Amino acid sequence: MEIEELTATPGKPVLTGRRRDFLIGGILALGGAAAGALAYRELVPPEKRRAREFVHHGNSIIEKHYQQSTATVAALKAKYETAVFGKARVWDLIEKLALCVDETDSSLYCASQLIHVQQVLEGIERDGIQDHDLLIAALIHDVGKVLLLTDELPENILGATARISEAPHGAGLDQVVFQFGHGEMVYSRFKDHVPEHLAWLLRYHGTDMADLEPFLSEKDRQYRDRYLIPFHKYDVNTKSYNHLPKVQLAKYRDLIENTFPQPILF
Ligand SMILES: [Fe+2]
Ligand SMILES: [Fe+2]
Repeated sequence: MEIEELTATPGKPVLTGRRRDFLIGGILALGGAAAGALAYRELVPPEKRRAREFVHHGNSIIEKHYQQSTATVAALKAKYETAVFGKARVWDLIEKLALCVDETDSSLYCASQLIHVQQVLEGIERDGIQDHDLLIAALIHDVGKVLLLTDELPENILGATARISEAPHGAGLDQVVFQFGHGEMVYSRFKDHVPEHLAWLLRYHGTDMADLEPFLSEKDRQYRDRYLIPFHKYDVNTKSYNHLPKVQLAKYRDLIENTFPQPILF
């Protein structure tokens, strides 16, 4: 018998030593957690804290993106057989990227997708490259992210494009089911308006080619080497959350107007 049980008032609940320790432990743990949270808020600079929160939130979107099944993908493809915005000028779609932030991309944080596009263009310019296909890809590859301006869930728009099925070796990427996202969206809108290799680049710009190696057809391999690898270099490596790119947008508006003189169904 423990001392507390001897000294307890008759009729009142008895607080045994073990229960009391448990209670005190609980209070201390709660206090510790609260103090820890307080210390975290006090000691971690606000900028760092916001960065961590941004990444945490982005990861939760990516987690949901990875839960897509072949049925989800089929449903989303069917959903987007219908136009979302109706007829749209391609340049207007590109400008809408100024309103879009990729919450899963901590290389860019809150920098808009139009800033990202300009950073890619600036990188291409810096290397003196004037490849029409590469410039058009830089301008439109992420236009599928304008879905962020609708009520679509971010996990159905953002994140990389991973495969969720296999195919016989060498069968070709069009035999593999991929997660639905902005790559598939932009492909579906532009495939009838651009050459096949460019449509291919738009569709697979966010894929991990190392994982896809066994499934590539000879054509996929050629497109990867000729278009995706050079494009990736600029798409991935020019990202910065604090670099304001200096490019002449008017020049690129002309390029887009000349390439897509008519509005497209988006
Ligand atoms: Fe992308
Ligand atoms: Fe991009």
